[in-house]
Amino acid sequence: MEVQAIRGFNDVLPEEIGRWQFVEKTARKVFEGFGFSEIRIPILERTELFSRGIGEATDIVEKEMYTFTDRSGNSLTLRPEATASMARAYLEHQLYNFDSMAKLYCIGPMFRYERPQKGRYRQFYQVDAEVFGVENPMVDAELIAMLIHFLKSVGLERLELQLNTLGDRACRPKYREGLKKYLEGKVSQLCEDCRRRLESNPLRILDCKVETCKQAIADAPKVTDFICSECQNHFDRVKEYLEAAGLSYVLNPRMVRGLDYYTRTAFEVVSYQLGSQNAVAGGGRYDNLFQEIGGKEIPGIGFAIGMERLISLLPEGGEFVKHPDLFVAALGEASFKEAYRIVNQLHLEGIRAELDYEGKSLKSQMRRADKLKSRYTLILGQEELNRGKALLRNMGTKSQEEIPMGDGFLNQLKDKISTID
Ligand code: HAM
Repeated sequence: MEVQAIRGFNDVLPEEIGRWQFVEKTARKVFEGFGFSEIRIPILERTELFSRGIGEATDIVEKEMYTFTDRSGNSLTLRPEATASMARAYLEHQLYNFDSMAKLYCIGPMFRYERPQKGRYRQFYQVDAEVFGVENPMVDAELIAMLIHFLKSVGLERLELQLNTLGDRACRPKYREGLKKYLEGKVSQLCEDCRRRLESNPLRILDCKVETCKQAIADAPKVTDFICSECQNHFDRVKEYLEAAGLSYVLNPRMVRGLDYYTRTAFEVVSYQLGSQNAVAGGGRYDNLFQEIGGKEIPGIGFAIGMERLISLLPEGGEFVKHPDLFVAALGEASFKEAYRIVNQLHLEGIRAELDYEGKSLKSQMRRADKLKSRYTLILGQEELNRGKALLRNMGTKSQEEIPMGDGFLNQLKDKISTID
């Protein structure tokens, strides 16, 4: 039996990579334009970073982490998300000493032991952006505006921005109690998981997909019935700034997010083109995360975009696949050497050029040039060498022309193949 990849872990093949590179390039361009800098953080962290940062009672920490003990007996975890690691790096390197505000982004794989299905994998990539050090609701709106601008820049349409507030340390416990009290009267309708959540994390019940649980929460109290005036004020201003930026949103009082660190603003971007896993991006404010992981009180807000989901929404088509600019078809020892010299020179100048290494016939080399969708083929048979002229064929229009070999040959060749026709 051939060794195969682990379930839920995907290869990204050369035919798909163009889309990935396009998304990553656009993210860097857009984010850096908004003043963000890239940070690269390790894939492995101490387990306690996530159990403290994300919260012991979350699905991620309870049952989805890839945790193991290393050879020195340390408990380590493959990062299930990037926010806690970015906060750790910010504290560890005292980046706050440089400026009170930090705008950081990172791109890379995350790991969660979830049941794989379309749009849900065990290794998946996120594009993540975070702003540390500012509590002003203007930043919440600006960050969301950047997210929407980015998603539009890669060509996504039919998106919905869903918005909620989750209160803070002062008012959320009151909501939690109110919700718990309400749901205690509905225990018989709750699934097994939610009965457990009733004690550990009643807010998560709002997110349950089980039909009876959905019915149980239909008339449940909303967070907005409980939040304090500071949180209400923050939320109102986020909405105002979003409106001022011309962004529309839908209020979703049931959106709780799957990580415990959120306070106040929470948001998701959903796509109607995706199936059950329809969240392309999610994020929110987390004003207590830094304290949870042992630091001082620093406000923060951020989001993460699921790359696989985003890429599945990009239009189909070959525009992302890279093809050779030139295929040099040669025949005979002398002409092969010449072909080698030309291709080598073009490679040094960053031009995608290919040739045959297997001594195939001119006809089968032409077939390969066709299969590779090369834009041009340069035919360099013995006859062409004898006449001192190479034949350049445009594979799209099928037109051909001769280029005299000798001085200036490479420059002429480059001129011809760089012309967009
Ligand atoms: P999250 O909602 O857990 O948030 O993940 C963000 C996005 O990652 C989701 O909307 C989805 O597109 C993608 N995603 C999550 N799990 C999977 C999976 N198993 N397979 C494929 N895609 C997945 C966070 O991770 C937070 N750290 C976001 C954040 C940043 N909040 C503040 N700052």
